[in-house]
Amino acid sequence: MDHFLYRDGALYAEDVPVAEIAATVGTPFYLYSTATLLRHYRLFDEALKGTEHLVCYAMKAAGNQAIIKTLAEAGAGMDVVSEGEYRRARAAGVPGDKIVFSGVGKTAQEMRTALLGGIRQFNVESEPEMLLLDQVAQSLGTVAPITVRVNPDVDAQTHAKIATGKSENKFGIPIARAREVYAQAAALPGLQVVGIDVHIGSQLTRLEPFRQAYQKVAELTEALRADGHDIRRLDLGGGLGIPYTRSNEAPPLPTEYGQLIKEVLGDLGCEIEIEPGRLIAGNAGILVSSVIYVKAGEGRDFLILDAAMNDLIRPAMYEAWHDIVPLVEPAAGVEQRPYDIVGPVCETGDTFARDRMMPPLAAGDLVAFRSAGAYGAVMASEYNARPLVPEVLVKGDQFAVIRRRPTFDELINRDTIPAWL
Ligand code: LLP
Repeated sequence: MDHFLYRDGALYAEDVPVAEIAATVGTPFYLYSTATLLRHYRLFDEALKGTEHLVCYAMKAAGNQAIIKTLAEAGAGMDVVSEGEYRRARAAGVPGDKIVFSGVGKTAQEMRTALLGGIRQFNVESEPEMLLLDQVAQSLGTVAPITVRVNPDVDAQTHAKIATGKSENKFGIPIARAREVYAQAAALPGLQVVGIDVHIGSQLTRLEPFRQAYQKVAELTEALRADGHDIRRLDLGGGLGIPYTRSNEAPPLPTEYGQLIKEVLGDLGCEIEIEPGRLIAGNAGILVSSVIYVKAGEGRDFLILDAAMNDLIRPAMYEAWHDIVPLVEPAAGVEQRPYDIVGPVCETGDTFARDRMMPPLAAGDLVAFRSAGAYGAVMASEYNARPLVPEVLVKGDQFAVIRRRPTFDELINRDTIPAWL
């Protein structure tokens, strides 16, 4: 459920007509709903009620500080994967002890920043990383709290580009070697083992792969405790999928996911961390765009939009489906027709949808890409020298630009011309 609904024939974001924001900000732009963000965060929080837990929002999904602050004020921690994300979270007011640091390629510089600024834990992904973190922590006269990310070798049954829990993926250490690696970690004075971490992939639409992975984590918890390690925290990663289209089979709900966690891991007495990104931000955001031209092609019509693959890469990158809806609600019974919906970028890959059934549209009409809140704005680029599009946040009947559109001068003046030219 989200808060982008038609009211009196027009698409609203909470209590604001989306067209009104478009008139102020210009298209394209990303638009987020506070109520939807909070609703999704609270679903997870409620689902784990009765168990000590922290929902660490995976801010890679949508990292604007206004979004982070909205969630942090409701109690969320953050999952970060780079110094940039760490600094963003801190700038938005998230305390260090609510930030977990994930990622396969943490640098010494990133480790230093987090150790000095405060960190809940590092989710260590390899032995070389473990050795480096030990050295960095010792050089600062401190001890780094860690979990080791284990790779449970389960099939997440999702798109190959976003599956992370198979042994051939670059993530984590093979679970079969976990005891050896924990023994090594325990011997390093700069590290303190606090738990185990696992994350098997994104956009999972079944609970079964989670169950398989979490059962392996439960067994490992017992084995590691028997080896004398203090396993008090389990970071279970993110990955719960969202419905991208109404006709889709609905993925499991956070309540069912929470039930599963309690069922498989509830008896261990561990604090639970989860790192959802997509389920919190995905359906809390839309991308609003205008039709530039309707072009009659050979046997098909093209809707050429002012948004392009550089603004929303998911269709080009993962063949992802996004519902695309007009801001003016189509009259009942209006005949739909197929369009190829494309952007202005000079690549055939700049195609959002083929043969998509839409009501008849004309130049100047506005449309919204639904479910674009996660992995939308954050994956945008300036390809074709197209400035990053603005982000806007709605709360009730108010809206605010939370990242403005850069000027062309800003874009151009980042280049420097060498003296020899
Ligand atoms: N934790 C870790 C360690 C992760 O790598 C990820 C996502 C998450 C949590 C959050 O997963 P989520 O709850 O959002 O599924 N760009 C792709 C998705 C990449 C996901 C990367 N890791 C897309 O647009 O589908």
